[in-house]
Amino acid sequence: MEIMKRTVTCGALRKADEGKTVVLNGWVHRKRDHGGISFINLRDRYGLTQVVVDADAEEALRTIAAELKMEYCLAVEGIVRTRPDSMINPDMATGEIEVSAKQITILSRSEVLPFVIDEKTNASEELRLKYRYLDLRSQTMQNHLALRSKVAFATRQYLTNLDFLELETPTFIKSTPEGARDYLVPSRLYPGQFYALPQSPQLYKQLLMVSGFDRYFQIARCYRDEDARGDRQPEFTQIDIEMSFVSRDDVLSLIEGMMGHIFRTTMNVELPATFRRISYDDSIELYGTDKPELRFGMEMQDGAFLAEEGSFQAFKDALSAGGKIKALVVPGVAEKYSRKLIEDLESTAKIYKARGLGWMKVGGNPDAPILEGGISKFFEGKAEQICATLGARYGDLLLFVADPKAKIACTALGAVRTRLGKDLHLCAEGTFEFAWIIDFPMFEWNEDASKWDTAHHMFTWPQTQYHATLESDPGSVKGDLYDLVLNGYELASGSIRIHDPELQKRIFKIVGFSEEEGQKKFGFLTEAFKYGAPPHGGIAPGLDRLVMLMAGETSIKEVIAFPKNSFAQSPMDECPSSVDQTQLDELHIKFTE
Ligand code: AMO
Repeated sequence: MEIMKRTVTCGALRKADEGKTVVLNGWVHRKRDHGGISFINLRDRYGLTQVVVDADAEEALRTIAAELKMEYCLAVEGIVRTRPDSMINPDMATGEIEVSAKQITILSRSEVLPFVIDEKTNASEELRLKYRYLDLRSQTMQNHLALRSKVAFATRQYLTNLDFLELETPTFIKSTPEGARDYLVPSRLYPGQFYALPQSPQLYKQLLMVSGFDRYFQIARCYRDEDARGDRQPEFTQIDIEMSFVSRDDVLSLIEGMMGHIFRTTMNVELPATFRRISYDDSIELYGTDKPELRFGMEMQDGAFLAEEGSFQAFKDALSAGGKIKALVVPGVAEKYSRKLIEDLESTAKIYKARGLGWMKVGGNPDAPILEGGISKFFEGKAEQICATLGARYGDLLLFVADPKAKIACTALGAVRTRLGKDLHLCAEGTFEFAWIIDFPMFEWNEDASKWDTAHHMFTWPQTQYHATLESDPGSVKGDLYDLVLNGYELASGSIRIHDPELQKRIFKIVGFSEEEGQKKFGFLTEAFKYGAPPHGGIAPGLDRLVMLMAGETSIKEVIAFPKNSFAQSPMDECPSSVDQTQLDELHIKFTE
């Protein structure tokens, strides 16, 4: 079919183009008829242009105009004319002009839409994913995916300029334990054997360092069989980076520079040259999480003095059992927070295993504040001291979690802090608060299995000062580990790696891998390290989370062209789906039920 090819896009025309004959290709976004005149907003990914079929246009043209419906795909030839002053649309880039149609060809018709493009507020997520190709036509989704492409380009530009090589690693790999469950691919040639899809290119990028590539990156697809959440998908993309002969600070400053370049070139946002650094222990103490939202302050405080100050038994018990009392001053909301609203906050604390949420209000009058409500009866006459120690003022709400387990007190009140940030709109939109969380514990105690696990992965370098006490006191060992957080999300994670096979064996042992097991699962890596492995380290920012935050979204689905739903399914092509018996037979797969 011979098509009228576009000479301009739907976002291009301005007043200066008046009088030009142009051809546009695009979709009917909206159509209105007014006194015999048809106004068609023609859309492509560059914008919208108003096409007009005048009342005195030729009969054939008016017949076609009458037939047009939303999302018909058209070629339009016409003449650019300026709009009368009263018709100028300042909200449209092309709002000063319109195109008077001389010829319209319908390239393709559309059935009635499941939802109107750009007005999908009524469409459920399921419907949007089922008709994802239509959903992607919306201005928002077009912008998001364009941003994603620009971020990927800026990443390549920045890293390539610094001598990084973009290298690919396999997506059929050996199944190795790496935190989440693997997606497995059955082998047809080797009955009963499987490839795994990589949870990340971790081992391969380390092997590339052994091979001497010294600066590697890859915009890599990763696969993890874990429950989906707003910021998690079963397949997602990392900006995976590894470098040789570096220390932690080299990796951090590389990423600071890279984020600066990405934000500057794609959004014209200038980031600070360096990001603040917070130790893991401080982050837990102040924010109750290792991914703190730093667009507002409102840090938690230590409330240990309250055990002495008052007669509240729960506080005293928590402290004497070796736990903590954490306190949060919420400025100016004493009046706003009714008992019911506070109970609601308590439900958040309870999700994080708090036994309750203690509260008091600073009331009375501004010159002589008193403590009111909640647990205030246990602190009679102590208003002045308590307010002075916590920095609280008249009108503030005071919240407390005490628990014999210090971590519970911190995480539960921290969750309340994070929630208040949202509820009270404390986070300015369009602002970006980065921070490094450093000095993570190397090991975590696994209650269920009664054993130590590595907090990140097994290849993290324990900070050198702890090497002598690795086995005797794993709980106090800090790893050379770092996370980059942005607006309350973990954006990237990385570490300096072990390059010494003997040290690697010690780590395997601590997490309960026999030498044999370590050999079986990671033998190729420890073997490689025997041949002059360079010291190395790296990091992997999640591309989806980065673009999500840049786009001001709260789900990575909004920045992935074809994501899975929350149940790891694709409503559009209906996968996962069953396969033919012959395929199963070839793969030697039999179901037990
Ligand atoms: P980690 O497992 O912390 O580290 O992942 C690094 C970053 O990847 C992103 N991410 C995800 N994004 C979407 N959906 C998911 N399911 C998902 N899981 C992780 C996050 C996270 O910060 N190999 C190491 C990195 C390294 O040490 O170099 C790794 O994969 O943004």
